[in-house]
Amino acid sequence: MSDVIIAKNLTKISDFNSSQILLRQVDLVIEQRKKVLITGPSGSGKTTLLHTLSGLDSFNKGSLALLGHDMGSLSHAKMRELRRRDIGIVFQFHHLIQGLSVRDNIMMPLMIQGVTHSDINTICEILNLSDMLLSQPVNLLSGGEKQRVALARSLIHRPKILFLDEPTGCLDQKNARDLWDMLSSLHSVWDMTVIVVSHDMGFANFSDQHLTMLDGRIYC
Ligand SMILES: Nc1ncnc2c1ncn2[C@@H]1O[C@H](COP(=O)(O)OP(=O)(O)OP(=O)(O)O)[C@@H](O)[C@H]1O
Ligand SMILES: [Mg+2]
Repeated sequence: MSDVIIAKNLTKISDFNSSQILLRQVDLVIEQRKKVLITGPSGSGKTTLLHTLSGLDSFNKGSLALLGHDMGSLSHAKMRELRRRDIGIVFQFHHLIQGLSVRDNIMMPLMIQGVTHSDINTICEILNLSDMLLSQPVNLLSGGEKQRVALARSLIHRPKILFLDEPTGCLDQKNARDLWDMLSSLHSVWDMTVIVVSHDMGFANFSDQHLTMLDGRIYC
């Protein structure tokens, strides 16, 4: 099985305060198809790590290979292309586009690429998003519905790696459990690596690699 992420000595310093080290010499290997859970206290650097590993954010020292690409030397254009094609991200705060319908929000990653065909029906069926809901503007949805729409959007281009930042943050226990189940079904159908940041220990059953972050360091 190949490694989809290899981070060596990965170090990130704050752009605003050069004495603040956000990621400290992170060494990490993640194999294809693994389900990885990252936990740690608030402010320990989990979101920063996720954004750096996914190529959204830069780093200052060390090296990062993402799906075989050296992220230290990849051009911005190639990095964007890699993210659009192979990476899915569910952000901590959704970042859905207000005023657009649920369907258009989900289809946005494909619209940007000019792709018209999609797995939208399959994904919406698994995520229990009805036809009626698809035509609504996203601002009318509940927190749990927004989480599922954000998940659908992150999956619409069939990413090789899916990053999720606190996907159950505003869900009750039942909805959280439904979301782990949905992720498990999707993971078993698709050849996908899943990396979840969460305080929700329910994901411990879902995952097969558990990492802890503390003050910018990772503990395996
Ligand atoms: N772009 C940035 N530039 C500078 N500092 C940042 C940046 N993003 C986050 N930080 C700082 O990095 C530290 C870690 O933040 P981060 O959001 O990664 O924590 P977290 O573990 O995800 O916390 P939470 O569980 O509350 O979401 C914090 O001190 C934060 O203020
Ligand atoms: Mg965070």
